[in-house]
Amino acid sequence: MNEFKHNSEENYIEIIQRLVKALVVLLVIIVILLVFLIWGVPVPKKELPKKDTPPKADTSSEKSKADVWMAPDTSNIKSEKNAAQIIYGRELIANTSFYLGPQGKVQHNSNGMNCQNCHLEAGTKPFGNNYSGVASTYPKFRERSGGMENIYKRVNDCFERSLNGKALDTLSNEMQAIVSYIKWLGKDVPKGEKPKGAGLTELAFLDRPADQVKGKTIYMLKCKTCHMENGEGKLNEGGLTYQYPPLWGDHSYNNGAGLYRLSRFAGYVKSNMPQNTTFDAAQLSDEEAWDVAAFVNSQPRPEKDLSKDWPKISGKPVDHPFGPYADKFTEQQHKFGPFGPIADARKKVKK
Ligand code: HEC
Ligand code: HEC
Repeated sequence: MNEFKHNSEENYIEIIQRLVKALVVLLVIIVILLVFLIWGVPVPKKELPKKDTPPKADTSSEKSKADVWMAPDTSNIKSEKNAAQIIYGRELIANTSFYLGPQGKVQHNSNGMNCQNCHLEAGTKPFGNNYSGVASTYPKFRERSGGMENIYKRVNDCFERSLNGKALDTLSNEMQAIVSYIKWLGKDVPKGEKPKGAGLTELAFLDRPADQVKGKTIYMLKCKTCHMENGEGKLNEGGLTYQYPPLWGDHSYNNGAGLYRLSRFAGYVKSNMPQNTTFDAAQLSDEEAWDVAAFVNSQPRPEKDLSKDWPKISGKPVDHPFGPYADKFTEQQHKFGPFGPIADARKKVKK
């Protein structure tokens, strides 16, 4: 009996000891869980390319072709289930005017230019305003409209501004085809990323205003042969499409278009003009690109009602040429620069 009592006492102590151990283990687990909850589970971080960091201008070492985006091989389109639609979309980008221009076969909703005049090689050329980063980054918020834009809206922006025309019906065969093609082009780009060579070259700002008088000299020397002295370009035989698209006048982009901003025009020209220029063999200096931009964008062109643009004026880019502005710089400086001081003043406001 005594022995039994003794035994059960020992058991009792052992049970308590075990309970205490279990409690300690439980506490440790809870503490670890709390730490993870507060600091987050350490997932290995994937290095995302920094968005909107301009490639440094003119440092030839950085101009390697190696990691620049290359478009998927068009001969593989045929294995897609909507191949016919993608091919029609590519055709519309390349020969927009033939289908949708002033004498277009399908509709007349644009000015005679082709998307490809600005989005070179059907939107595939590195630093030629290609579409590599469209499928991966839209829908996205854009300051110009003050809202979320999907690819349809963004394409129609270019119809209404760059092609100085009318928006296409989202459900039309033509819009569906264009968007299918743009999605196909970007199909291998991870969501959220913009590959190297997407869009346009970002040039360093000049420390003086861009000079349209100097720009005119460059124009007469290096652009006039194709775009003509009056800037109106040259039509192909038959007059349906342009051999050399207009840079100003009735058939050019309007004052709400991307190219009407000096930085967009200069960046486009630097890596792509005169014809057949590539980003790794530019023919104009940065100064020449800015100056010729100032000259061309001082010539007459169609005007669009822009009163609904930039609902938040502090969202206007430094080179948006129309006030009102959230800063004290003049419209003149916002149009021609120097843009550096405007950009610096904004950085200070943000701090
Ligand atoms: C007069 C030149 C011009 C023409 C013609 C033009 N665009 Fe654009 N497009 C631009 C510019 C400039 C941008 C803005 C590029 C930037 O800011 O990096 C742009 C941007 C775009 C974008 C967004 C690109 C991105 O990466 O965010 C799409 C999509 C687009 N255009 C589609 C079209 C389509 C489709 C057509 C023909 C219907 C067309 N564009 C015709 C000049 C043009
Ligand atoms: C040898 C002919 C040639 C010369 C020289 C030339 N361009 Fe072009 N330019 C073209 C062609 C062709 C296109 C359309 C490209 C396409 O559709 O593939 C074009 C397109 C453009 C565009 C976009 C479309 C538009 O009409 O708005 C701009 C801007 C432009 N050129 C500016 C210039 C400037 C500035 C110069 C001088 C520095 C220049 N070009 C010199 C042939 C030329």
